[in-house]
Amino acid sequence: MHDKSYYLKTPVMHIDIKKHNVSKLIDDFANMSFQARNLYRACKIYEQMLKDKDCSVILTLAGSIFSAGLKEVVVDMVENNMVDAIVSTGALIVDQDFFEALGFKHYIGSPQVDDDELQKLHIDRIYDTFIDEDELRICDETVGQIADSLPPRPYSSREFISEMGKYLEKRGSKARSVILSSYRKGVPIFVPAFSDCSAGFGLIQHQSKNERHVSIDSAKDFLELTRLKLMADETGLVMVGGGVPKNFAQDVVVAADILTSKVKMHKYAIQLTVADERDGALSGSTLKEAHSWGKVDVGSEQMVFGEATVTFPLLVSYAYHSGAWKLREEKRYSEKLSRDEKLIVR
Ligand SMILES: NC(=O)c1ccc[n+]([C@@H]2O[C@H](COP(=O)([O-])OP(=O)(O)OC[C@H]3O[C@@H](n4cnc5c(N)ncnc54)[C@H](O)[C@@H]3O)[C@@H](O)[C@H]2O)c1
Repeated sequence: MHDKSYYLKTPVMHIDIKKHNVSKLIDDFANMSFQARNLYRACKIYEQMLKDKDCSVILTLAGSIFSAGLKEVVVDMVENNMVDAIVSTGALIVDQDFFEALGFKHYIGSPQVDDDELQKLHIDRIYDTFIDEDELRICDETVGQIADSLPPRPYSSREFISEMGKYLEKRGSKARSVILSSYRKGVPIFVPAFSDCSAGFGLIQHQSKNERHVSIDSAKDFLELTRLKLMADETGLVMVGGGVPKNFAQDVVVAADILTSKVKMHKYAIQLTVADERDGALSGSTLKEAHSWGKVDVGSEQMVFGEATVTFPLLVSYAYHSGAWKLREEKRYSEKLSRDEKLIVR
């Protein structure tokens, strides 16, 4: 039997899109076929979103993409005003981003291992990546401690994640973290299924020992994201993977329509995914199909079929090196949502 250090040796490094200018490569994809041309179209649509001064960009995230080295891509998007709101799974924001902000790492591994030995050593595996389960437990407990420190009431996940940002700031964290950068830039992060990750383990510890406790109100999340849509008016979606974040962000158009009578569909939409449409499920449903539901406008929408560790850095590098973000300003929706909390949309 090996010991833990045998497996947890080489950390996963995050790709720095600022160092890699892929503009010429992507421009040449325009004259090819299949997913190369689709990716070119998606890059041009994202560039257009950033040039459109009336458009707010909503990024949706699913899959294990931060543990795979894509965290810095999102940090760069936040820091350079290339995104105005994020909707994500909890695994990405808590188990992966917050986890690394606490000083822990993901490690290069392999699927060809003895999983029984890993289990005995408290090492979790995500395909070819390893995580120290004991460190993950510290992440769970830290979420519980943040909850213990807050006045007991229902919170949107956005409010709770802001508190996690405040916690990292107070600790003087130097981490390159999506939570921390978003907290500083006023970019709201919504995690509609907040308990379905490390946060859930922390929150059950908090709730089981406190009769009056913090709870997460997912309807409040939906109302906040809907209010954001109404404030923004024109919106574009950049979606990585599918799942709950994709649906939540698309559904705000219908929600806004229910609360008022005049609301625009998402003007731009791109999705990078491995899912296709044949099973009828949400993750692979096309953006053209979303038009039939009144969620996404047609003309500036593009699906790209490919794995995100390859397609996402290409997309964001193209947009970064185009410089289209340079004229964009911070929208600071998180602060606006907190300030106008009493506002009932009519
Ligand atoms: N993934 C994890 O390691 C993990 C860990 C703890 C908790 N969870 C929880 O499980 C739930 C499901 O989350 P999930 O993140 O596994 O997503 P998911 O399985 O719901 O992903 C949705 C879809 O996104 C697409 N997708 C995922 N990864 C992709 C990639 N690399 N490239 C292209 N497309 C991709 C696939 O079509 C997938 O069906 C969430 O609530 C999450 O918090 C996940």
